[in-house]
Amino acid sequence: MSKNVVIITASLRSKSNSDALAAAFAEGASGAGHAVETISLKEKALAFCRGCFACQEIGHCVMDDDANAIMEKVAAADVVVFVTPVYYYGMAGQMKVLLDRMNALFTKDYAFRDIYLLTTCADESEEELHHVTSGIEGWVACFEHARLSGVLHAPANTAPGDIAKQPAQLAAARALGAAL
Ligand SMILES: Cc1cc2nc3c(=O)[nH]c(=O)nc-3n(C[C@H](O)[C@H](O)[C@H](O)COP(=O)(O)O)c2cc1C
Repeated sequence: MSKNVVIITASLRSKSNSDALAAAFAEGASGAGHAVETISLKEKALAFCRGCFACQEIGHCVMDDDANAIMEKVAAADVVVFVTPVYYYGMAGQMKVLLDRMNALFTKDYAFRDIYLLTTCADESEEELHHVTSGIEGWVACFEHARLSGVLHAPANTAPGDIAKQPAQLAAARALGAAL
């Protein structure tokens, strides 16, 4: 059955390694017949959450920037894929800001069930990458109908475009998307 897949990419730089990982996942998923939309946080306006909790009453954030539109797409998706560079062994700050700003999801009958995490980082070892995974696990744990269905780390990518030299990583992302 065709699924509605929303991929959110957090990197703000051009020739981003994580964007390339997202594109490979999207290629695999659309090749398998799924409807895929990729939302890049580049040029999106996302203010910090102020913690006012008004969203729990009115179902959306009171701040008028790009967060509400992204949240509506996430709420309607069957599959959500978070794609982020690793910053200090966590997700990039802009991804965390988005998660916070989607706090109104608690009040919604969200459709998403399967969550995926794709990351790129400079380090060659995956030893410390459980930290970035656990950041997303914390978010997933707040949504009882959702589960973290797949994680793909793509280490040893430092400069923009480095991942082009790692076709196995891109193939793994494509395969993950194709297996939805
Ligand atoms: C602020 C900052 C913090 C970073 N922290 C880490 C880190 O903790 N571990 C790591 O392996 N790489 C770290 N990196 C490197 C990036 O994860 C790496 O360059 C990655 O390929 C960037 O992905 P992108 O091209 O999609 O932006 C950091 C980069 C920046 C800018």
